[in-house]
Amino acid sequence: MQTVLITGCSSGFGLETARCFLDHGWAVVATMRQVRGDVLPPSDRLRVIALDVTDPASIERAVTSAGPIDVVVNNAGIGWLNALEGTPMAAARELFETNTLGTIAMTQAVLPQFRERRAGVIVNVSSSVTLRSLPLLSVYTGSKAAVNAFTESLALELEQFGVRVRLVLPGRAPDTSFGDNARSRMRDGFPNAYAELVRDVFSGWDQSSEVTQSRDVAEAVWRAATDPSCPMRLPAGADAVSLAASR
Ligand SMILES: NC(=O)c1ccc[n+]([C@@H]2O[C@H](COP(=O)([O-])OP(=O)(O)OC[C@H]3O[C@@H](n4cnc5c(N)ncnc54)[C@H](OP(=O)(O)O)[C@@H]3O)[C@@H](O)[C@H]2O)c1
Repeated sequence: MQTVLITGCSSGFGLETARCFLDHGWAVVATMRQVRGDVLPPSDRLRVIALDVTDPASIERAVTSAGPIDVVVNNAGIGWLNALEGTPMAAARELFETNTLGTIAMTQAVLPQFRERRAGVIVNVSSSVTLRSLPLLSVYTGSKAAVNAFTESLALELEQFGVRVRLVLPGRAPDTSFGDNARSRMRDGFPNAYAELVRDVFSGWDQSSEVTQSRDVAEAVWRAATDPSCPMRLPAGADAVSLAASR
């Protein structure tokens, strides 16, 4: 039986991806910062373990307790929407620490076992904002564009060991906790000078008919993990697929 370890399974894409792999008969190591046994259906193929991707000791404990795994899905991430002038450096550091360095650290932690077994797949969840630049997302986009560049370079060095590395690029998913989590971090609001731009960005979203569902992302991760012919960058969700096609 194949085993997948997924980060950020408490909600949204990570939770749906864990469900998807369980439905396909895999063993699932669902990781989350605060362990909750009630978010996933009970299964003897499921283990829920604590993992904060910004904490090296937590990463080491989680990877050791997970044992051998075949696929790692770096999904844990946080959002931030604001002008750069409204973005404290502490927020920028938190974003890169979680989205970028968390992905790098988790990848580094599982790599030795993949290389030794000459098998394994790393799936990094990035974002479709890296396909088309949008205002108010400079720091978030930077954190995810770095994941893209990291992933594509790493893929080249791991090919020789039979280890595959892929990117999933989800579109905007208003139904996950992502927006609320980001808003709770943005206590100081937007700088006044950017008020008109903020209004334009929000009204653009109100008018957009295509969005991404968690299921779209779970299915894209499943494909990235199991289909060796999957392209390096796989858009997930109607809006992301349209955007990728229009480029
Ligand atoms: N929703 C969107 O519109 C969208 C679009 C494109 C890409 N994405 C990306 O997709 C991924 C999942 O987002 P989502 O929409 O499913 O959001 P979500 O519902 O907020 O889920 C994010 C998950 O990441 C976890 N997390 C945050 N910081 C962590 C840390 N330091 N260590 C471990 N886990 C941590 C959260 O755990 P806690 O419960 O502990 O906070 C949560 O389980 C993220 O990488 C995000 O950047 C989202």
